[in-house]
Amino acid sequence: MFLRNAWYMAGWAREIDGAMLARRIADTPVVVYRREDGQPAALHDRCPHRFAPLSRGRLEGGVIECGYHGLRFDAGGKCVGNPHGDGRIPQAAQVQAFPLVEKYTLLWIWFGDPARADPSTIPDFSFLDDPGRGRVDGYLHVQANYLLETDNLLDLSHTQFVHPNFHFSEAILQGRHEVTQAGDTVHSNLWCPNGAASPMFAKRIPGYDGRSPVDQWMDMRWDPPCLLRLDTGITPAGRPREEGGQSFTAHILTPETETSTHYFFAHSRNFRVGDADMDEAIAHWQRVGFGEQDKPMLEAVQQAMGTTDLMSLKPVLLPIDTAAVRARRIVRHLLEAEEGAKR
Ligand code: FES
Ligand SMILES: [Fe+2]
Repeated sequence: MFLRNAWYMAGWAREIDGAMLARRIADTPVVVYRREDGQPAALHDRCPHRFAPLSRGRLEGGVIECGYHGLRFDAGGKCVGNPHGDGRIPQAAQVQAFPLVEKYTLLWIWFGDPARADPSTIPDFSFLDDPGRGRVDGYLHVQANYLLETDNLLDLSHTQFVHPNFHFSEAILQGRHEVTQAGDTVHSNLWCPNGAASPMFAKRIPGYDGRSPVDQWMDMRWDPPCLLRLDTGITPAGRPREEGGQSFTAHILTPETETSTHYFFAHSRNFRVGDADMDEAIAHWQRVGFGEQDKPMLEAVQQAMGTTDLMSLKPVLLPIDTAAVRARRIVRHLLEAEEGAKR
């Protein structure tokens, strides 16, 4: 079961430049594309005649022509052309349209009440709009429920076991961990002041001597149901964060089905911008760390659980689970509120 009154990332805005994008999101097949005026639009990817995916059709002038028998639909889902017989348009020839906006270079879709689809409630990912920052992004298809991926990201202590070869564990994991909640937003922050530089972060400070004490942090922000932003960095001890090497990473976990997730990530940095070696080091971390270490572990966990209801299995809970448990509780309350409102 998925929240309906929530913004989900449907894809990168660039994915619909000149093409239709077909993607299953929250168990709903959608086709996303640009209208003639360039504005993005989303329709249920299912023709009401014989249920052909509209994404197999043709997009022309912002109108989709079904690839099976040629019914034509506008961005509101209204049938605007029938090439058969007298051309009369049957009343039931209507496709569901979903609110979709482009913001922070991402596409956001809403499956709930359209009257409640307010783009100003999308959490802040404005760092992705800043052309002065260095960006490395990517996508993984993960065969696991999105909340398992959320658990993983809200507990970064897993890095020392799942990612031992990346060497950022020793220094930074001795830090002070604090979990706080503001409204439905959870913060899971790790603060490591006045210590030795983690090898993973040391190269972020230009001209760093490798010995002077530094402040380091890893701050994760989570918003329901699946939107995370990681703020990590290193700065000379006592100096403002912006003076050091700081990165923000969007980790966005769009559920595909109950047991599969579209994992979008975008790393954005203020250091060594335009440096191809740095780009490659980050891409390597995403490829190996996320793709070859986190993903197989999460898929194995999903297989071993055999269900998506973690709590029904009565898992052992550790202090490191605090943020993830809060996030799960918030999602459950929001789902219950939605279900209650339907009755
Ligand atoms: S299935 Fe689309 S027009 Fe027939
Ligand atoms: Fe990880």
